[in-house]
Amino acid sequence: MTDAPGFAEWMSFLEARHLADLTFQEVSRSLRALSATYVERRKRLGEGAALAGAGKRAAFGLFYGPLHFLLIRHIVSSLPELGRGVETIVDLGCGTGAAGAAWAKTRAAGAVVHGVDRHPWAVDQARETYRIFGLRGRVRVDDAAKMLLPERSAVVAAFAVNELSAATRDRLLPRLLSHAERGGRVLVVEPLAGFVAPWWPTWQRAFQSSGGRADEWRTRASLPAIVEKLDRAAGLNHRELTGRSLWI
Ligand SMILES: C[S@@+](CC[C@H](N)C(=O)[O-])C[C@H]1O[C@@H](n2cnc3c(N)ncnc32)[C@H](O)[C@@H]1O
Repeated sequence: MTDAPGFAEWMSFLEARHLADLTFQEVSRSLRALSATYVERRKRLGEGAALAGAGKRAAFGLFYGPLHFLLIRHIVSSLPELGRGVETIVDLGCGTGAAGAAWAKTRAAGAVVHGVDRHPWAVDQARETYRIFGLRGRVRVDDAAKMLLPERSAVVAAFAVNELSAATRDRLLPRLLSHAERGGRVLVVEPLAGFVAPWWPTWQRAFQSSGGRADEWRTRASLPAIVEKLDRAAGLNHRELTGRSLWI
């Protein structure tokens, strides 16, 4: 999975950028804090707590970005339907651009990727990600729920829907389903842990009754050296990449 063209260059770029002003120890300490935010301080995610501060941003960019890239690459290579005729990919809550880039590099060479995120730092990182992967990319600071979805585009929302408020999420679901009805495609990815996305069963029923599918993923991955080192130093364990997806 680490064999995607451009992946090694992206990793070198991330390592150089995120370890330019912070030491490895500072980033690994921030990774522990970031992981605690995702698990124990979830209520603060809506205020942007995950990307608050240089340390957490570096931890997100250097650790979670590559992990998400590898998981999305695995999902997209496992679902052949995700590769047919994709010309535009919209990445909602794109973060550093990992999910859209993984989809494009795996199955949609030549697709234009539109990344949207409410965080200006994330959008800057996504721009760099698209550049390094040689993708035609556009980025925009905006609310994911307000993003216009181009006709027949492929929409991915990876690890992002769980950060939306309940009201925004409720408005997004019918929009995504109606986008699919009009010829678009939608891929939603979230962690396996039920507490992260208590809304999942409702979304799963809605996707499945509109003809979509739901999957759970577990795959062993050889991680980039810096990701493995951070994983160990922060006391985490990502030798197996996991997640669940909805696809229509
Ligand atoms: C856990 S990160 C995932 C990023 C990326 N999709 C990935 O897989 O690596 C969640 C992202 O969603 C963004 N986000 C949260 N709420 C948002 C909203 N209402 N509109 C746009 N972006 C949002 C955050 O700024 C963050 O970059």
